[in-house]
Amino acid sequence: MSDEVSERLLGEARALLDANRRTGISPWEGRPFDYTCPSPGSYIFQWFWDSCFHAIALCHLDVERAAAELLSLLQGAQPNGFIPHIIFWQPDPAVMARQTLRLAGPYMSASVQPPVLALAVERVYRAGAGEEFRRRALPPTRAFFDWLAAHRDPDCDALLAIVQPDESGVDADPKYDALLHLRAQNNAALVASINRIYDAYRPLGNDDARILAADVFVVEDLVYNSIYAQGLQALARLVAPAEAAVYEGRAARVRDALIAQCWDEERGLFWSLLGQAETPARVNSISSLFPLIIEGLDRRIVDRLVREHLLNPNEYWLPYPLPSVAATEPTFNLDHPHGFIWRGPTWVNSNWFLSTALRRLGYLDAARHITRRTQELILRHGFYECFNPYTGQGQNARNFSWSTLVIDMPTG
Ligand code: GLC
Repeated sequence: MSDEVSERLLGEARALLDANRRTGISPWEGRPFDYTCPSPGSYIFQWFWDSCFHAIALCHLDVERAAAELLSLLQGAQPNGFIPHIIFWQPDPAVMARQTLRLAGPYMSASVQPPVLALAVERVYRAGAGEEFRRRALPPTRAFFDWLAAHRDPDCDALLAIVQPDESGVDADPKYDALLHLRAQNNAALVASINRIYDAYRPLGNDDARILAADVFVVEDLVYNSIYAQGLQALARLVAPAEAAVYEGRAARVRDALIAQCWDEERGLFWSLLGQAETPARVNSISSLFPLIIEGLDRRIVDRLVREHLLNPNEYWLPYPLPSVAATEPTFNLDHPHGFIWRGPTWVNSNWFLSTALRRLGYLDAARHITRRTQELILRHGFYECFNPYTGQGQNARNFSWSTLVIDMPTG
C-alpha cells in the first residue's frame, strides 16, 4: 500500500471509530463502558464479533482503547462462561423493538456470535496491551470456549451447533433457506421465519439443551466452527506452554471433523450441516471457503478451494471480490440489501479473514488484490456495511465500524 493510501485510510478509520465510540456508566448496575457501536444509524449497542473486529482495527490506532473495547465486552461474561452477542449498555426500547431479539435479561441477548474473541485478545495483547490485560481477558475468554464446548456440542462430534441464524453473524446467508422454510426471497419472509423460531423457543426458556433437542434450527455452521478452531489455535498461543497442547488438540479435532463431515470431495467445497439429521446445505456461499482460516488444513483441500472457487471469475473472483454468495448460485441477490444481506454483496470482514488466510497460505497476489480492491471500495464510497461486487456501490448501514478492518488487511 502506498504511504499516501495507508495514511488516508488510517485517518478515516480513526475518525469513524472516534465518532462511533460510546463511553459512560450503564444505567443498570452502574458499570463503566467503552465500546464502538457498529453503526450509529442502524446498530447502536455493543455486538460481540463487531467489537472483536473493532479491537483488531484499534490495534493500529490506540491499543489502550482496543483493550477497553474487549474488557467492556467481557463484562457481559456470565458465571457459567456464556457471553451474549449484544450488550445493551443504554437500553433503548424503541430501537430494541425494531430488532428480532431473544433476550437473556433486560441488558443482554440470549444468543452467541462467532468466537473471534480469542484472536482479538491475542492481537491486542501482542500489540502491547500488557500482562494486566492478558490476566483480565484470558480467563473469561477460555471460559467462553469451554461454555461453547459444554453447551453447543450435544452429539460430541467437536462441531458446535448454532440455534438461530444470527448466531453465525451471517444471518441471511441462503444456506439456511431450506431449514428456515423461507416463503419468499425477501427480508419480511426472513423476519417471519426467525420469529417462528423464537416462538418455538419461548416455552423452553433459555435452556440450550432443550432448545437443541427441539431441533427447530440446529446448524453445525462453517463460519462458526472455522472461527472456533482458529480461536482455539489462538488460545494455544496465549496460554502457558504446558497447556498449549490441550487447545491445539481441540482445534485439530474441529478441523478433522469439518473435513470428515462437511467436505464434499466431488464439488471441492465445504457445507454446513442442517438439523439433527446433519443434511449438508449445498449452497455455495462464502461460508464454504471459511475453513481456509484454520491453520493446518490439508494442502490439497486448500488448493481446490482457492483455485476452483475463490479465484473463479464465475463464482467469487468478481470485480470487487469476494461476494458473500457465489455468483453462480440462484440465490445470489444484490437487489435487497436492507436486512436481506449476506446474499451477494462483498463484506470487509470476510475479505479480511480470507485475505489474511491467503497470505499465510502463500497466495500473495490474490491476498494483495483483495486488499487493494477493498481499499478502493472504502476510499471511493466510504465505510459501508457491504458493497456491490460489480459496481462497488455501498449498501445497507453507513459509517459501519468493522469496515475499518481494511487497515489490518495484508499489503505485503
Ligand atoms: C448484522 C450482521 C451481524 C452484525 C450486526 C451488527 O446483523 O449480520 O453480523 O454483528 O449486524 O453489526
